[in-house]
Amino acid sequence: MTAPDIALASRFQDAFAAAFGEEYRDADPIIRPGRFSDFQCNAAMGLAKKLGQKPRDIAAQIVEHLDLTGIASAPEIAGPGFLNTTLSTEWIAGETAAIAADERLGAAVPASPDTVVIDYSAPNVAKEMHVGHLRTTVVGDALARTLEFLGHRVIRQNHIGDWGTPFGMLIEHLLDVGEDSADAKLLETDPNAFYQAARQKFDGDEAFATRARARVATLQSGDEQTLEIWGRLVDLSKQYFHRIYSTLDVTLTDNDLAGESSYNDLLQQTCDDLKDAGIARVSDGALCVFPDGFTGRDEQPLPLIIQKSDGGFGYATTDLAAIRHRVRTLGATRIAYVVGTAQELHFQMIFQTAREAGWLPESVDAQHVKIGSVLGEDGKILRTRSGSSLRLMDLLQEGTAKARGVIDELRPDLPEDEREQIAQMIGIGGIKYADLSTAHDSDYTFDLDRMLALQGNTAPYLQYAVARIRSIRRRAAEASGADGAAVDSAATDSAAAPAAAPRVVDDAERALALQLLEFGPTATAVAADYAPHRMAAYLFDLAQAFMGFYEHCPILKEEDAEVRTGRLALADLTESVLVTGLDLLGVSAPERM
Ligand code: ARG
Repeated sequence: MTAPDIALASRFQDAFAAAFGEEYRDADPIIRPGRFSDFQCNAAMGLAKKLGQKPRDIAAQIVEHLDLTGIASAPEIAGPGFLNTTLSTEWIAGETAAIAADERLGAAVPASPDTVVIDYSAPNVAKEMHVGHLRTTVVGDALARTLEFLGHRVIRQNHIGDWGTPFGMLIEHLLDVGEDSADAKLLETDPNAFYQAARQKFDGDEAFATRARARVATLQSGDEQTLEIWGRLVDLSKQYFHRIYSTLDVTLTDNDLAGESSYNDLLQQTCDDLKDAGIARVSDGALCVFPDGFTGRDEQPLPLIIQKSDGGFGYATTDLAAIRHRVRTLGATRIAYVVGTAQELHFQMIFQTAREAGWLPESVDAQHVKIGSVLGEDGKILRTRSGSSLRLMDLLQEGTAKARGVIDELRPDLPEDEREQIAQMIGIGGIKYADLSTAHDSDYTFDLDRMLALQGNTAPYLQYAVARIRSIRRRAAEASGADGAAVDSAATDSAAAPAAAPRVVDDAERALALQLLEFGPTATAVAADYAPHRMAAYLFDLAQAFMGFYEHCPILKEEDAEVRTGRLALADLTESVLVTGLDLLGVSAPERM
């Protein structure tokens, strides 16, 4: 199974090799959807330059050697040397039937599966997850789902901030209020409030501050009792993360936790090894690395501090230990860090240091998947009126409440509990989708009304398209009684009976089928480029193609049973692709809407 552009590309490349020699086989055929045909190949211009001939002559030679039998019409030369070709409708029908019978919906199996470590979410213990963490969480989760769907081995790593100097004051505060107190409960419900209370005491109470500092030292020395209290503090925080993850329908579990603390025992060795290798040296009392290619003011080499003069380690040391662990122990062949854009320099310096140390061989790809900011209507980082960062849970609840209004208006006839369920899907789906449909490194404005709109590139628009197809199928089943039931079960359970092939004859059927064939290549591109917004854009195009099809090709009113069944099969395939694509983004779709 091949998407049309990929299938055409290989035929064109055969022609390049035949016409101009093997060395031209790999020339990019530059196949684009055409304005006057299905596809246009724009390679003649580039090849003409290389071969020193006129583009139209090159085009003619390509045509002479091109065999599109079984796929498309012989191409026509247009303008300066464009090659226009129209696909054979039978070929499209055959490919469409093939993806309908394939549980991967045409997604190619990777030639050699990668082991991909995805570092995402990574909130900080005893701190509220802010909207920035929303983005790293949903983008990372969509990538994990997509790579896994394609057959790669995915290792999720939730690099939570669970270590460092604030833990002295947090532990002392927990001891002060008592673990079973209402104040301690805040860790599970409103971690920022817990943190602020500890902070206030630290700033205002000298004795407390002294205790807190001493506690950091006992914690870092590995004192068992202190570690035990620390562990309980982290556990309470995990409850909070879990609530957010389950509300968001995110696949992260406790097994994926690999917080900063888990590298603690490796930090000294990490520093020593870098020092022994001559990569790290002491500068102004601190142990630093100066990775190649980074300069600060006055063109001076830029240091990355890995051990402070007091012996303490920092964020960078932990990431160096982590990257070594990921390659050496976890066997990563690709590592994706889904983290805010602000940390770009940090990761570049970490990657370069790890390369120099030989911990990140050339064969392993490391990428910082940069996450842009979520803005308020004023164009600044989203905050509450009082200026503090917004509580993620509040935002999610507001989304669901608003979505309840949308569904109440749309389907007042549905039972109360069903509307509540749908509101959850629309509200959470709407927020996640708005995030995922934006390129991960661009900023976007948080606007619930737009996110929950039934029109435009939104989750509710796609969810509505799915619900609509499901309703068509139910009505088709009702209309044809027992027969309909057979149609229904054939569509949902392919083992029951051989399903009818999707009908690809009329223009709108053909246009829809062409879109359906792009699902597999889109998923592959999302995984290769870490770009979930491509899946979102694709699903939106697909839903629009479906609306066009449904407008022109009646299903329920169609008299001819064979045509009706074929169209129903095409609608069913559309539903599968929409639902699967949405699922790769972590968005679910309701039965009715
Ligand atoms: N906890 C950090 C933050 O909130 C993000 C950690 C990202 N991952 C990493 N390996 N550094 O900014």
